[in-house]
Amino acid sequence: MIVAIDGPSGSGKSTVAKEVSKRLGFSTLDTGAMYRAVTYRGLQQGFDLENISNLEDPECADMKSWLVNVANNEQISFEFDEFGQPAKVFIGGQDVTTQIRTKEVDRTVSVVSACADIRTALVAQQRIMGAKQDTILEGRDIGTVVFPNAEVKVFLTASPEARAHRRVLQNAERGVGDTDEKATLELMKFRDKFDSTRETAPLTAAEDATTIDTTNMTFEEVVAKISKMIEEKR
Ligand code: DC
Repeated sequence: MIVAIDGPSGSGKSTVAKEVSKRLGFSTLDTGAMYRAVTYRGLQQGFDLENISNLEDPECADMKSWLVNVANNEQISFEFDEFGQPAKVFIGGQDVTTQIRTKEVDRTVSVVSACADIRTALVAQQRIMGAKQDTILEGRDIGTVVFPNAEVKVFLTASPEARAHRRVLQNAERGVGDTDEKATLELMKFRDKFDSTRETAPLTAAEDATTIDTTNMTFEEVVAKISKMIEEKR
């Protein structure tokens, strides 16, 4: 069974998907981590991704082809904890769990994830990984592009302020990423706009998705609601 959870950053997708998966015996696939891993490889290669607004620009051709090659050929994999939940992220065998959560990756991942050829490569990997077992995939285009026939589709949202607040708490807990709430809110608004207006697979709710606004909901309420939706379809 495939469950799609889409939504903007900080809407709680990752934490909710992990908890629901743990309770119901699903695997989780954090597709954002895959775009982050490719972005990290670009930064590691020394690409100045911060000053680029479009990889389709002919001036970026070499950089784009290097990154597309990474997305096609460097396998992205996850190491799971005792609850079957992803604990570590690898690309081409390198553990990048911490590196993909830095401010630099936060600031540059939207440009990389807007590239159609990179998306094609990663979507192919996501379909293979998701089809192996009951999986909750979380991202931006799971219900619209990756698994349009997913049995359950959820679109999680919350106010930008609530999302920025949650993201800062999560970064502090992880010990990586920005913990300045104002800067996080600004970057979040920028990324929301960028991700929602890009040409390929923009962030949008699938027509048949159930939208859940979590601004005034507790974590437990969100987990219970999605778990119920899944149980009803099982
Ligand atoms: O969920 P996240 O913040 O880790 O996602 C990182 C970036 O990747 C974000 O800018 C949107 C993009 N993304 C995407 O385009 N498609 C997905 N399925 C998942 C993430």
